[in-house]
Amino acid sequence: MLDVLKIRNDFPILNREVNGKPLVYLDNAATSQTPQQVIDVIVDYYSRYNANIHRGVHALSQEATDMYEQARLKIQAHFNMEKSHEVIFTSGTTHGINLIANGFSSIIKEGDEILVSAMEHHSNIVPWQMLAERTGAVLKVIPMNDEGELLMDEYDQLLSNNTKLVFCNHVSNALGTVNPIAEIIKKAHEVGAAVLVDGAQASPHIKADVQQLDVDFYTVSAHKMCGPTGVGVLYGKDEWLNKLPPYQGGGEMIAEVTFEKTTYADLPHKFEAGTPNICGGIAFGAALDYMNNLGFDEIATYENELLEYATQKLLQIEGLRIYGTAKEKTSVISFNIEGIHPYDIGTILDKLGIAVRTGHHCAQPIMDFYGIPGTVRASFSFYNTKEEVDKLVEGVERARTMLV
Ligand code: ALA
Repeated sequence: MLDVLKIRNDFPILNREVNGKPLVYLDNAATSQTPQQVIDVIVDYYSRYNANIHRGVHALSQEATDMYEQARLKIQAHFNMEKSHEVIFTSGTTHGINLIANGFSSIIKEGDEILVSAMEHHSNIVPWQMLAERTGAVLKVIPMNDEGELLMDEYDQLLSNNTKLVFCNHVSNALGTVNPIAEIIKKAHEVGAAVLVDGAQASPHIKADVQQLDVDFYTVSAHKMCGPTGVGVLYGKDEWLNKLPPYQGGGEMIAEVTFEKTTYADLPHKFEAGTPNICGGIAFGAALDYMNNLGFDEIATYENELLEYATQKLLQIEGLRIYGTAKEKTSVISFNIEGIHPYDIGTILDKLGIAVRTGHHCAQPIMDFYGIPGTVRASFSFYNTKEEVDKLVEGVERARTMLV
């Protein structure tokens, strides 16, 4: 059992007021908040050993390098990656996806097929459209039903020997659906296709085991997991990362440079050109320590309770419809009230100190599927409480009476 009131004391931001009301932060799918333990690591880095890494013989550079490489090992262990050089530091999930999309430009050929799920974030659609345009490949969509679940029979029909790549998120940011990625990966491998899973929304709730999943690529962002923005990780199977060309050229990613020819560094450096987000990487390691100390099983159990409680309460509001009612869900509730624009509900909630996201959530195809401009999205974390859910429900009810 999580001691949520004690946990809340770790998050200084949760004590602030917004518009004269105590903050109720329910926009965790956009970004999570940062515990003092991680803030301390950031302050410590800039106060004591800020230096560039992998370059200096001096003490500060070596300390920073050691801490950064320790963070890589923590990330390797957390996701059960076989090799530490399969951890590629990125600026976030979008960077990781673009790195792979760029790499496949030289592998994908005209007429090859790329499958993408109907419930992707734009960051897992647009790079593949760009890849298809560059190569002449065909992008096909795995459809979903009204509940927001992928139609696995249709997926079976779409798979063929022409399928070279499959992309799917582990959890939908707009609907909260947990997708059956183990099955998706297994079936893709049966036709020889590689699979990239966008783990940005799953990683705060589910501890993915990349070896057990046998996934080819898995991407995450630190800021969804109590870490800072601007840093993330791309996991890639060693054999794929060796096969793919570098994404960016620059310092750190080379073995030898002459004007005639450059040879590239070994993994992971081949994909880590330039000075990375050193402090961010170290803080990501600290954020994983923090979450693992709480325990992912405990986090999931508590968040599921909150999700269930909030779902039941919200459904009692007249005219409220929840989008995304899959059997397997994490703590995201997207909803609308008949006749009211989501933006108006979000604005009233903000006046009450309640932070939610409104709009299309960077997933316009999902909104088109339901024929709506957007939704109000409340997304919960392990530091939220049932009292906060009650405030959300009261706020939505108030908005409804004001706006209908
Ligand atoms: N992708 C983030 C979200 O869903 C920003 O809100």
